[in-house]
Amino acid sequence: MKKSITAVLLTAALAGGATLSTDVQAQVAFSDYVKTQHQFAHKHKDDADVLVLLASETEDGAIHLPEMWDPQVRSIVQSALALEDFTGKHGQQVELLALPGFYAKRLWVVGTGTAMTRADAEKLGAQVAAQVGEAADTVVVHAKGFSDTQVAAMAHGMDLRNYRFDRYKSEPAERPDYTVHWHSDQSDAAAQAYADTQPLAHGVFVARDIINLPGSDGYPKAIAELAQTAVSNYDIKATVYTPEQVKEMGMGALYGVSQGSQHKSHLLVVEYQGGGNEAPIALVGKGNTFDTGGYNLKTSGSSIVRMQTDKAGGAAVLGAVMALAGKDAELNVAGVVPLSHNLISGSATLPGDVLVAADGTRIEVVNTDAEGRLILADGIWYARDRLKARAIADIATLTGSKVRALGTDYAAIFSEHDALISTMKAAGESTGELVWQLPLGPYDGIIDSWLADIQNVGSPGAQAGARLLQHFAKDTPWIHIDMAGNAYGTSASGIHPAGGNGYGVRLLSEWAENYNSASSESAAGTN
Ligand code: BES
Ligand code: MN
Ligand code: ZN
Repeated sequence: MKKSITAVLLTAALAGGATLSTDVQAQVAFSDYVKTQHQFAHKHKDDADVLVLLASETEDGAIHLPEMWDPQVRSIVQSALALEDFTGKHGQQVELLALPGFYAKRLWVVGTGTAMTRADAEKLGAQVAAQVGEAADTVVVHAKGFSDTQVAAMAHGMDLRNYRFDRYKSEPAERPDYTVHWHSDQSDAAAQAYADTQPLAHGVFVARDIINLPGSDGYPKAIAELAQTAVSNYDIKATVYTPEQVKEMGMGALYGVSQGSQHKSHLLVVEYQGGGNEAPIALVGKGNTFDTGGYNLKTSGSSIVRMQTDKAGGAAVLGAVMALAGKDAELNVAGVVPLSHNLISGSATLPGDVLVAADGTRIEVVNTDAEGRLILADGIWYARDRLKARAIADIATLTGSKVRALGTDYAAIFSEHDALISTMKAAGESTGELVWQLPLGPYDGIIDSWLADIQNVGSPGAQAGARLLQHFAKDTPWIHIDMAGNAYGTSASGIHPAGGNGYGVRLLSEWAENYNSASSESAAGTN
């Protein structure tokens, strides 16, 4: 089955097919991603592959084992914990095998620390999932004393870690398909809280798929169509503007980045209306489906490799809108994703060319590798001018300069609006998707051009990118997130499997809700 799907995809790609095959597009439902089952009703099990006993850190270091366990088992476990200096610190783990007369083959005592936050709980679930692997059938988690939302967050963390992007493997490994029995205090509440995490997980999975698709399969039109399929069961209106329409709307900056590729620029817009008739909050994400650099070619292997991940900002925006729609959030949000393919040919934009953006600004393309800001310029224009957005957050794998400044754990945020900065920082803290503010700095003409109105590069690099985007946001409250380096890893870690990790889905969906309530509170305050 899986083999034939792979064959269909590769044939379509080799034939230069205009779209992904239907089979591949159909793999975007939540149940296509999560094969494990989470059971929250307390059912007694006679056998289990693994029993996970969660233990909080206590002041005196004492670990309390369930009363119903056999005294002999309890004393073996207590001695093992003492030998290993187990204190219940978050993530600490002791494993016992084949305990006499015990119903589980393995017992893992796992420390939860003192106050387990949502991000901590997700991480812990991911840690357990990573160790369970593929082989188990039944996992029991003894989670008495933990809240329904903590239990749900652990289950959610397991799902996030169990994602696999294996459609390019000739022999994909088995997907984990065990059942997890959660023994907690309020099983109905935990089941509901877990169900509430599913749209967010689904948004993350679709975002990861988009990031992971190689550049010759995941080109603008293919991504637009995949997105349309992914949102089809949501209360989301998806609009795809063709290259001709992009041109007609005057989006010359977006069009120009793809003009050297056979895969021309598209514009994807996804709208969710849960907040009546008020103006939407707009999320604008860079969807550059491959970045060769253009004529300013990325000439080292290490700089060009994995540049299919240059669409991660756009993927995050789509996933965030899915997460908000799936939870029936009470706000209006629009996702705007300009899609391009930055390649070279006889028709590609040349260094020194001048592109005319939709708002009329003429941009000198001093460097064709600074393409993200060009496509975002028109995306931000669309959010401001067409959607009349009341606030705009853009997110992009924009600059190497950001990676040098902050590395790959934190994304950089830039804004002159305090309410946007504070709500974004709060979203970063609660989701664990970290952000750090960098200054826009005084505007000292860093993107002035002698030839045209502005130019697309300047120094310092990350600030020049931000300043160019700000030009297109004009007076609309705007915040820019530079997530270069955050999008993927070549090995798994925490809730992230190897490959695209979906950074930004959680941050943006949380932020949109934070900002929405903060701005309606301040509006109510002025009444
Ligand atoms: N997509 C890259 C930025 C990037 C670099 C993302 C490394 C992820 C990892 C972007 O389009 C780019 O090429 N930026 C240039 C801009 C420069 C030419 C002004 C850069 O930062 O080097
Ligand atoms: Mn580039
Ligand atoms: Zn790029």
